[in-house]
Amino acid sequence: MIVLEGLSKHYGDLRAVADLSLKVRPGEIYALLGPNGAGKTTALRCLATLLKPTSGTASVGGADVRHDPLRVRSRIGFLSASMGLYERLSGRELVEYYGRLQGLGEERLKERVDELVALFGLEDFSARFCGKLSTGQRQRVALARAMVHDPSALILDEPTHGLDVLSGETIYRFMAQERDRGKAILFSTHQMAEVELLADRVGVLSHGRLVAEGTAEGLVQRTGAGSLAKAFLTLMEQNGHRPVGREFRNEENGSPEGGVE
Ligand SMILES: Nc1ncnc2c1ncn2[C@@H]1O[C@H](COP(=O)(O)OP(=O)(O)O)[C@@H](O)[C@H]1O
Ligand SMILES: [Mg+2]
Repeated sequence: MIVLEGLSKHYGDLRAVADLSLKVRPGEIYALLGPNGAGKTTALRCLATLLKPTSGTASVGGADVRHDPLRVRSRIGFLSASMGLYERLSGRELVEYYGRLQGLGEERLKERVDELVALFGLEDFSARFCGKLSTGQRQRVALARAMVHDPSALILDEPTHGLDVLSGETIYRFMAQERDRGKAILFSTHQMAEVELLADRVGVLSHGRLVAEGTAEGLVQRTGAGSLAKAFLTLMEQNGHRPVGREFRNEENGSPEGGVE
């Protein structure tokens, strides 16, 4: 179980995450939605023990990020676009390197890396330097690295960002399979379609606060919107967010272009 309890993270005067509490059960996929700057990455990085909370805490399977960060790390697989790959290692070498850091013995490591290469379809490029891979290939290597120790909780920050449909599908299938194996999965995204496809529950962040939580259907019903995308926009407006940039207006009648209804 992933638990966030009153988690706050301040950068100077900025409250990036403010009193955030949520739970993700084993066998559950929880999607974190929110506009740019809402605090999703900050919250996930606190959970992954890469940032220290200002107050409150988080835990994975009872291990606390403040008191037991090494145990938390052994239980989570963390994927984030901000984590680079070593450009001068091959994909296979990179995954092996992380496996050794996680304490896998050489025999088990070889088996596990073979499994991951097959699982994420890395066969054609696992011997190439990471620096020479495409975005989708890099993401699949990064995911294999994050999963090398078969962690019980997955923390994925925009896992399909910048990926084509096929690479995205590989990741969806993997997430669904891991949920069925009883893992707790917390991920952030801007893609409503993947939330509808995968998420058992959704939390919406605005200015670091959880402003709505429930099933996708529940959020649609509660906001009286016709779709999850519209429910999200309604919640954003209720919390003072507006589309960024100038307003697109039709000069003649003053109504928005494109006829948003
Ligand atoms: N290292 C940092 N130092 C100062 N401010 C930061 C830092 N990282 C993020 N922020 C700010 O914290 C807020 C939340 O950012 P972030 O967690 O990246 O949001 P999201 O992932 O939802 O887009 C933003 O206002 C961002 O500018
Ligand atoms: Mg982010």
